[in-house]
Order: sequence, then structure tokens, then C-alpha cells
Amino acid sequence: MTAKILDTLHFIGTNDRSKSLFENNWPLPFGISYNSYLFTDQKTALLDTIEYGSDRSYFEEIKEILNGRDLDYLVVLHMEPDHAGMIGELLQRYPHTTVVTNARAVKLLEIYFPVIDKSRIREIKEGDKLELGQHNLQFVMTPMVHWPESMMAYCTTENILFSQDAFGTFGTLDGGIFDDEINLEYYKDEMLRYYTNIVGRFSVQVEKALQKAATLPIRIICPVHGPVWRTDPKVVFDWYSSWAASKGEKGVVLVYATMYGHTQRMADYIARQLAVNGIRNIRVFDVSKTHPSFILKEIWKYNGIVLGSCSYNTGMHPYMHHLCHEIEIMQPARKKAFLFGGYSWSGGGLKNLQLFVQNMQQKHRWELLSPGIELAGYPLTGDLEKLDRDISAFAATL
Ligand code: FEO
Repeated sequence: MTAKILDTLHFIGTNDRSKSLFENNWPLPFGISYNSYLFTDQKTALLDTIEYGSDRSYFEEIKEILNGRDLDYLVVLHMEPDHAGMIGELLQRYPHTTVVTNARAVKLLEIYFPVIDKSRIREIKEGDKLELGQHNLQFVMTPMVHWPESMMAYCTTENILFSQDAFGTFGTLDGGIFDDEINLEYYKDEMLRYYTNIVGRFSVQVEKALQKAATLPIRIICPVHGPVWRTDPKVVFDWYSSWAASKGEKGVVLVYATMYGHTQRMADYIARQLAVNGIRNIRVFDVSKTHPSFILKEIWKYNGIVLGSCSYNTGMHPYMHHLCHEIEIMQPARKKAFLFGGYSWSGGGLKNLQLFVQNMQQKHRWELLSPGIELAGYPLTGDLEKLDRDISAFAATL
């Protein structure tokens, strides 16, 4: 799949509709795209590759665009194998190509492709330039967006930012490749899921990268997943800025784990009370039915979180445990939390949720107004009065 961005700059990408789990963890119901970019200036330069084996026509497309010329440079912005996968074969096919990348990426190159001749690598650092002829690339280090070696390249002549994972998204490019050819709302949702699942943990570093990028005039953004932003890159820049700042809007994500329906009944009761208390954005999930990938995306959107678990072998339910683990990893900040639990004979669901939230309070500025409530079986009249008071107080803080 190719498209012309400039006379001397081409998009070469592929859609992956085969992979079911990105990083063997995150569901891909709408697939994913891998993008690379090829300059054909006085010098030729390919920026990043694609996942190994994801597209049989990739090398034919490069060859066709090069039209008999050699490939002078391979610029490696990020070494995760969804972009670095084709490096080994590319360098075999183009034995005169020089790899241009930073010192941290060189270490990963040596791990993934130990046969690469070191004399073929040109190491660059922050601010260094690569002259291609009419176009020059300047390198901007953006560590942890998404890996330590991650960097961006900025075309100073055309004001194009090659942003690697930043501004990327899940979802294939279904015909439309540019922002003016697609439904932005569709991609916004998948982009937020990508953000919360892949780079949300590094939001501090994302904010630093955005601050650096904000000093540059940017006409086009070329990420390695999803659409190329050639018409209004400010749209995606603003989305990322608000997500990195973790500015959740007023609302609640309520997630429960239940075995036989008692805890679910409490969840529905609490959701109803939240609505009665004026909360209009309420999203309720059975944690055993919905993958954490999708729940994390919703958690990122809102400032309130309610977690409830039945007791399971004296702890919380295993699926709730998994969700809490992913939340700890991805680090959504500044949430206001409310907890509840259910038990028949042991207890333990609520206690373990409290321990989880204590950790989030210490590390990520979560707030917990009350210890929560744990009930045996269905809530009874006396329980409901206390629950009503606690939910009212919680809703007032949102
Ligand atoms: Fe799309 Fe971090 O790789």
C-alpha cells in the first residue's frame, strides 16, 4: 500500500488483519497498520520498516518507488519489532545502505540483528542532521515514547514530523490514508485505546516530547501506525496533549467481578444511585466479559472509578486482579475511587481492592473518600441506606 505525500516522499504501509493480539496482549478487533516512509531526494532514505512478514509486497513497493536507484539510508526511529522487523532482510537486499540511528537503538540492533556489520551504522544524537539534498532531517530524542531508544525525525524543509509511535493508533487504514480521507471520530476512539494500552504509562515523557514538538512548525505528521495527518495535524496534537495530561471529564467507570450475580446486583444499584446523584457519564463493565484493553480506555476518559469484587479464594476475583495489575502498569492518574465487595463466607475482595487503591493513592494521586462497603449476598435495607449516603458523598466529589 503506497501513497505520495510529496513528489519525493512516499508512504509505504501495510494493514495487518491477521494478528489478534498486539504484543500478544491487546486485542485488535479492527486490525492495525504499520507505516514506513521513503524519501527519493538526491539521497534516498527509508524511515522505519514494518513487522516481519506482514506484507509480501513491501520490498516490491520499495523497489518500484526507487525505480532503479539504490537505498542510501535506513533511518531507524524505533526498534520495537512491529517496525524493525524487516531491517535484516532489507539490509541483505540493499548491501550499500547505511543505518542511521542513535546509540540506544544500536544496542537493540545488535541484539535483534547480530550479523549486521557495524561499519554500516551511523550513530546520531539529539539535534544532528541528515542531508538528503533538498530535504534535511533533524533528530529529536523522545525516550520512552515508546521505548528508551525512541526518537523522531523532523524534516526542516517541509515541516514534517516523523513521530514513530506517537500519534499512532490501532485500526487498519481502510482505504483512507490521510486525515482528510477518514472519519476522525472512529480513529479517535481506537487512538485513545492505543494510547492507554501502549504509551499511557509514559505520559510524563509524552508531555516532554509534545513540548519539544510544539517548538517546531508542523505541517504534516507521519506516524508509524494509522493515518498521516497532512491537513490538520493540530487535531491529533491536541488529543494527545489532553490524554497525556490525564484530564478526565466528569464521569464514572464502574467495573465489577461477580460469580453468581450478588456483586452484579450491587453494581447495578450503585450505577443507578450515581445517575440519581447527577452523574451522566457512567460506563459499567463485567470484568470477566470485557478485556482490560477496552476498560482502560474508558478509565482514562473519566475522573471517577468504582471497583467491586466478589471474594474469591479469600482474595479478589482473578479477572479483577488482572485489571488492577494493568491499571498499576498503565498508571492513570488523579482518579476518585469508590470500592465495594461481596462475600458469602470468607471476605477478601474489598480488602484487596483497598490495598490496590492505597498503592494508587501513593503513586498516582488517586483519592478514596471512604473504605467502601462489603456485603454478604444481596444488599438489604440497612445496607442500602449506608450505600446511598456513601454514593452521594462520592458523586459530590466528581
Ligand atoms: Fe509500534 Fe512501540 O511499536
